[in-house]
Amino acid sequence: MGELHYLDNASTAFPKPDRVHDAMSSFYRKLGVNPGRSGYDLAMEAGLVVDGTRRALNAFFNNPARDHNRLVFAANASDALNILIQGLVQRGDHVISTQLEHNSVLRPLYMLEQAGVIETDLVPFDGAGFVDPDEIARRLRPSTRLVVVNHGSNVLGTVQPVAQIGRLCRERGVLFAIDSAQTAGVVPIDMEAMRIDAVAFTGHKSLLGPTGVGGLAVGPDLPLRSTRWGGTGVKSAVRAHLEEFPHRCEIGTLNTLGIAGLMAGQEWLRDRGQAAIRAHEMELTALLLDGLREIDGLTCYCAGADDRHLPVLSCNLAGIDAAEVGTILDAQYDIAVRAGLHCAPLVHERLGTTPTGAVRFSIGPFNTRQDVELAARAMGEIGARFPAR
Ligand SMILES: Cc1ncc(COP(=O)(O)O)c(C=O)c1O
Repeated sequence: MGELHYLDNASTAFPKPDRVHDAMSSFYRKLGVNPGRSGYDLAMEAGLVVDGTRRALNAFFNNPARDHNRLVFAANASDALNILIQGLVQRGDHVISTQLEHNSVLRPLYMLEQAGVIETDLVPFDGAGFVDPDEIARRLRPSTRLVVVNHGSNVLGTVQPVAQIGRLCRERGVLFAIDSAQTAGVVPIDMEAMRIDAVAFTGHKSLLGPTGVGGLAVGPDLPLRSTRWGGTGVKSAVRAHLEEFPHRCEIGTLNTLGIAGLMAGQEWLRDRGQAAIRAHEMELTALLLDGLREIDGLTCYCAGADDRHLPVLSCNLAGIDAAEVGTILDAQYDIAVRAGLHCAPLVHERLGTTPTGAVRFSIGPFNTRQDVELAARAMGEIGARFPAR
């Protein structure tokens, strides 16, 4: 294998900054004990790292609940979205979401709907890949409890107007949450200014931490119930699971190693500057898009390289399945992409790309011009070899 051209950063950012590796190795060697359970120095020190990461992330999302304990850790965005959705809705509630959602929102909603607990409305997106806030407003009912929206599409790369949606939800007294799996670390998220009641995030994508850690920033007015119960390390004699945050939403030993890595990712982002990283990624996205648009028989879906888009492009070549293109890119060009269906089934349905899906290129901070120039050239060559059958 030659040099790998990794263009699958929307799956997980790779590689991670050296600082993340170093911080994790050092943390686990020096402080790899269980914090929050014992009073010895090492446990207290490990607890400070966990605490510091809560503070950093709570500030990063500008949670109007200044209490950093309302930043709860979870395994990833899927886990956080389950904590959110299952902990919030009650029998008879109505929930509005979108057809852009990942299965991590669609499936919890579907399961609750199937169980007769809630009713849902999934707002469609327009031909450019955006949800119209007025469409959400039209679907609000007296029983609407929650609006939950995918901030950035993992298929189309489109960034939804969450500030507008937040404003209308606040005016109508409805809770508003976002799935920031694709946006946290790329697009600024300000819970206070955007009137967002909860942000579900994952650590391993643009926040540049390791896999296995994510969480939920819980705003001050979110009446979240605990849905899982167990050990918290404190007040062990109390029969019921603790009501206070973060324990309300956390059970068992935390992924302290992941949390230490996530903190290092935060520091790396802060030092490099999120805006500078985004500018680099969008410059490469524009370059890739220019190259792809010249290829006969290639369709890009709702792609763009402006501030309403992420560095994520999905496309197809006429006459050849996405999976086959992915295999050729890998085998012949050492380019890693995601090919097929991307866990957002309604997007593929709408694009007409079910069941074969699309080829997705997603750019990260460590990609170079060479990576995207090669990708565009490779797609051109594959297209020329497989003219539409
Ligand atoms: C939009 C979106 N939401 C949620 C997720 C789930 O993230 P995780 O696998 O880290 O739980 C992803 C992952 O690809 C995603 O793209």
